[in-house]
Amino acid sequence: MTKIQKAACIGGGVIGGAWAARFVLAGIDTTMLDPHPEAERIVGEVMANAERAYGLLTTAPLPKKGKLTFVKTIEEAVQGADWIQESVPERVELKRNVLTQIDAAADPKALIGSSTSGIMPTELQRDMKHPERMFVAHPYNPVYLLPLAELVGGEKTSPETLELAKARLAPIGMKGVILKKEIEAFVGDRLLEAVWREGLWLIKDDICDTETLDDVIRYSFGMRWAQMGMFETYRIAGGEAGMRHFIAQFGPCLSWPWTKLMDVVDLDDALVEKIANQSDAQSGAYGFRELERIRDENLVGIMQTLKTSNGGQGWGAGKLLTEFEAHLWKTAPKPEAKPSAEPIKLLEAKVHPSWVDYNGHMTEFRYNQCFADAADSLLRIVGADLDYVAAGHSYYTVEAHNQWLDEAKLGDALYVKAQILPTDGKKIHTFMWLYRVSDDALLATCEHLMLHVSSKEGKSVPPLPEVLEKLQPMIAAHANLPLPAGAGRVVGQKKA
Ligand SMILES: NC(=O)c1ccc[n+]([C@@H]2O[C@H](COP(=O)([O-])OP(=O)(O)OC[C@H]3O[C@@H](n4cnc5c(N)ncnc54)[C@H](O)[C@@H]3O)[C@@H](O)[C@H]2O)c1
Repeated sequence: MTKIQKAACIGGGVIGGAWAARFVLAGIDTTMLDPHPEAERIVGEVMANAERAYGLLTTAPLPKKGKLTFVKTIEEAVQGADWIQESVPERVELKRNVLTQIDAAADPKALIGSSTSGIMPTELQRDMKHPERMFVAHPYNPVYLLPLAELVGGEKTSPETLELAKARLAPIGMKGVILKKEIEAFVGDRLLEAVWREGLWLIKDDICDTETLDDVIRYSFGMRWAQMGMFETYRIAGGEAGMRHFIAQFGPCLSWPWTKLMDVVDLDDALVEKIANQSDAQSGAYGFRELERIRDENLVGIMQTLKTSNGGQGWGAGKLLTEFEAHLWKTAPKPEAKPSAEPIKLLEAKVHPSWVDYNGHMTEFRYNQCFADAADSLLRIVGADLDYVAAGHSYYTVEAHNQWLDEAKLGDALYVKAQILPTDGKKIHTFMWLYRVSDDALLATCEHLMLHVSSKEGKSVPPLPEVLEKLQPMIAAHANLPLPAGAGRVVGQKKA
């Protein structure tokens, strides 16, 4: 069983709160221990931002949220947990002490991950009775969106622990990468620190201010890094001759004075003040949670774009998102609708920022997306789901007619109802209405026709019996409903 059944978070600050959000939104009951007097408020705010971000990230069916319980002791926290994540402040004595207490109280088979940014796991597991199940799971902020965890074992960590940790991260949408050896600061923080060290020199030496430095990153190589990292990017930079040529051209620069090398800048009061003032000038107009929300929207946008690249197969973090969504669809309860003489409710959605155009209204094609998602939902109800498609059959849309009747605005909750019009089941002919939840205003309609096909043979064929068995009673149940006013309407017709 690779799924995490119950999680415990020890420490609920920036990182621990976001781990809790990742677990809870993946449907995992989670306990939280943090002595901070305002821990519940702080974690609650992180949770609210995380839910908002997931609302933007995916329309796949998220599981019912796990229960989040605040507790007072390590013993209560780890009771029944099979993944325990330590995220207390970065002090080796404190961490070792907390981890040793966790080890004593937890089920010996429970996995224990530390969020440490750079302390070696061998140091942390020193006093444990069952150190073989302890490892570093180093995440990136915000843990609920950025999917990577560096998995690092210490001298006493078993290789199976790291493999099991990696397998358990996949169903919560995360990619675990296992490092071959432990090293202080692992991979990510070593790279970040090298760039940060150089950046601090550039500010101290008045070469640029914080805003200019950030612009240099985000308008250029920052975007490259998000999608190809360093070596794949440099392979392309070497032109047709590739990596060898790149190294021949830029390798010598490493010994030119392009870097302050390992000199560490003195972060004295004057430099801290200078950086803080420049940062206020750069970003002080935004509140902390506001900046978090802007960051989340940007990250969601990047991941969604990466999901569509490489001929639709996805790339990097976008490919992982596709796999996570496939998992969500597979594990979601199968939708059911008993045949009834009422139009069927097929979709609930929210208008999110990327759906809104320059008028502040939901952009035209998102209305179509609502109807397309509703049609997909009907297909899942009749059993023409992803497994059916993978086995070689599907329904393809062949014709549609929309009416745009009212505006949907950012944040509006929407739903779609559908009436199935009489057909033989080889075609599915529906009339759909898109409504706003708050006032049941009718926003748009769509008359929609799908045709059953064999994707292998590339032609239309009758549906398989298991689909017809579900579909025909639904068609029959709607047969006596009056024809919707707009059905059969042609473009430009004055009256519905
Ligand atoms: N902030 C980041 O970007 C980041 C990224 C990756 C990893 N980390 C690592 O995650 C860990 C936590 O960092 P953070 O940024 O969340 O710090 P933080 O200061 O925001 O949170 C630490 C939390 O631990 C709580 N705490 C202190 N002692 C505790 C104890 N004995 N038991 C339970 N809770 C206790 C504090 O009340 C606080 O809420 C550190 O090891 C850090 O290196 C941080």
